[in-house]
Amino acid sequence: MKLTLTQLADMKRRGEKIVMVTAYDAPGARFADAAGIDILLVGDTAAMVVLGHESTVPVSMEEMLFMTRTVVRSAERPLVVGDMPFGTYQVSDDDAVRNAIRFVKEAGADVVKLEGAGPSLSRVRAIVGAGIPVMGHIGLTPQSATMLGGYKAQGRTAAKARQLLRDAQALEAAGCFAVVLEAVPAAVAAHITETLTIPTIGIGAGAGCDGQVLVYHDLLGLEEGTSPRFVKRYASLAGEIRDALRAYADDVRSGAFPQPEHTYSIPDDELALFEAQLQERGAEHE
Ligand code: KIV
Repeated sequence: MKLTLTQLADMKRRGEKIVMVTAYDAPGARFADAAGIDILLVGDTAAMVVLGHESTVPVSMEEMLFMTRTVVRSAERPLVVGDMPFGTYQVSDDDAVRNAIRFVKEAGADVVKLEGAGPSLSRVRAIVGAGIPVMGHIGLTPQSATMLGGYKAQGRTAAKARQLLRDAQALEAAGCFAVVLEAVPAAVAAHITETLTIPTIGIGAGAGCDGQVLVYHDLLGLEEGTSPRFVKRYASLAGEIRDALRAYADDVRSGAFPQPEHTYSIPDDELALFEAQLQERGAEHE
């Protein structure tokens, strides 16, 4: 049965940790559901880890809807969050509501997520007013990384930490049911978590948050090279996948694959008939 927002709120009250992971396709969603993950975020990180872009900015609404639909039909229990891509809510409340409705109506998302406070507060109020639950996201907000001076931790001065706390409180007051804290000092995130009544989901925000989120490709080691310090790799699948593909290529080239057990047979009498027919045809064309 689908996890409800009431159950999420109860988890915070009971001090039970909330587990969220990103998902972009059917296998990922199925694995996560089977593993008992609570929330699946169809994140705009898809732009980077699935579509090969340099940042989250280029992913389109249509691409996000396509992936969200796939995740929705592949997972039963987890709450599915549609991440509103850059440009779909920045211009006006009307745009924000229209695009949030598309996530729910056309893709089947349970809720949506958007980044920032400030101008985003009025978007949250408008979307919640339209009956769609919203997850906030503050701290390092990748859609505005250029404005923030790059991909770096936020809230590292007293003034900035105070502003983050105010933003989190404003998002709660605007109607968010949860808020992601990304790349925020653990002590600041813990303080925000204690102050809010809604759950906080941390990514690079320490153990004091009510829950944690990681990007699927990061935690499975599907991405190679250096990852942010907050990533813990639970597997190194990139190497395994590359080795498997190399072994397949070697087998095809050497003739070691396919073997008889990988092929289909035809009864001997049917094969004999087929070959006889081929010979007759050959004679006709001589
Ligand atoms: O898009 C995403 O994957 C996210 C998480 C990193 C929180 O927003």
